[in-house]
Amino acid sequence: MNILLLGSGGRESAFAWKIAQSQQCQQLFIAPGNAGTEQYGTNLDLKVTDFAGIKQAVLTHKIDLVLVGPEEPLVKGIHDFFLADAELKHIPVIGPEAEGAQLEGSKDFSKRFMQRHNIPTAASKTFTRDTLDEGLKYLAAAGLPVVLKADGLAAGKGVLICVSLEEAQDELKAMLVDAKFGDASSRVVVEQFLQGIELSVFVMTDGSHYKILPEAKDYKRIGEGDTGLNTGGMGSVSPVPFADKAFMDKVEDQVIIPTVEGLKKDHIPYKGFIFIGLMNCEGEPHVIEYNCRMGDPETESVMPRIASDFVDLLKGVAEGNLHEKELVISNKIAATVMMVSGGYPGEYLKNKTVTGIENVRDSQVFHAGTYLNGESVKTSGGRVVAVTSLQDTLFSALQQATADASRIYFDGMYFRKDIGFDLL
Ligand code: AMP
Ligand code: GLY
Repeated sequence: MNILLLGSGGRESAFAWKIAQSQQCQQLFIAPGNAGTEQYGTNLDLKVTDFAGIKQAVLTHKIDLVLVGPEEPLVKGIHDFFLADAELKHIPVIGPEAEGAQLEGSKDFSKRFMQRHNIPTAASKTFTRDTLDEGLKYLAAAGLPVVLKADGLAAGKGVLICVSLEEAQDELKAMLVDAKFGDASSRVVVEQFLQGIELSVFVMTDGSHYKILPEAKDYKRIGEGDTGLNTGGMGSVSPVPFADKAFMDKVEDQVIIPTVEGLKKDHIPYKGFIFIGLMNCEGEPHVIEYNCRMGDPETESVMPRIASDFVDLLKGVAEGNLHEKELVISNKIAATVMMVSGGYPGEYLKNKTVTGIENVRDSQVFHAGTYLNGESVKTSGGRVVAVTSLQDTLFSALQQATADASRIYFDGMYFRKDIGFDLL
């Protein structure tokens, strides 16, 4: 079959790498892709939200399946667009329709979903400009710290953890009245702060059946020792040592089954990935957030641990027979180190030449923010390349990924050397 993959990050590189290994994939196209995805298929110069352009590409290249990497096209309804088009409606899209994508697109929607289906999560209440006074009073009665979340997509910046009442009340006003995050903060979820350790759990579902993919831990802060500004993610490891069988059984019973069943009860069709951001609070899982896609840089650690044919699993999602497909997970440990541009996550350097990728010894390099300029690889994004190593122990995976990252160079580059060491 011919497959079109939408996106251009490290996540999509890891998907492309895995898909290209399948006997079932004839031709792979990546839109828009990056300098690395060209190794696995053909890049198409198209924006992920250019639905008309995507339609043309699907017809021209006789695409049989579309895999959507990032959330934006899903929240904007790319799956619905396919279903509404006579020429496209028979072509499966992996990724939910706009309604299901609201699990990520609206924090208020996802909180109401969790409350309705008794899925463990922090207590919360949602406020708008009209209920600002009520919100300020609610904050005064809430414990500290308290979490404020812009309802809509805010490029990962819409969550504020406030340590004083004054800060919380000022921020609530800034979000609701001064549109701090634009339209995304016209509604704000005020949430209890959860103390614990986070992990990312990934579920693949055809709407009826599900498979639990390898879990992962993501390192979000720019600085070593989890300090400094939040980023898209500076590294990941999979598996997560504290996600033992007892914990994962709780996750399945209390979170995954009620989520998949809840979607069915609410008549929300869902074919794709559910990324569950969880807090492990003394052994009890609580949902922090849902995403309607895979994580980045978690996918870079998850894909190498999938030993079975990933395209077959995608077909299972498309055809509704995921339960008949085999998911084999490797016992090896994956560690990913993300190499970023100087300045990131603020204003960052661009168009720097990346060298040394050929010197990497025992890791996979997944390109993220790169493009090809003739023969040379140049940087275009804050997150430039992810270096993933799969080894028998966490220690050797971390050591190898870090050693291989040191073999790559670009002006102003930076990566954390402590990814995963807290888990040893
Ligand atoms: P999100 O943008 O929803 O991924 O949230 C960003 C980060 O904020 C999460 O990864 C958590 O580290 C943190 N966070 C969100 N909600 C809570 C909460 N209720 N308690 C503690 N930390 C939270
Ligand atoms: N790594 C977190 C995310 O993909 O949102």
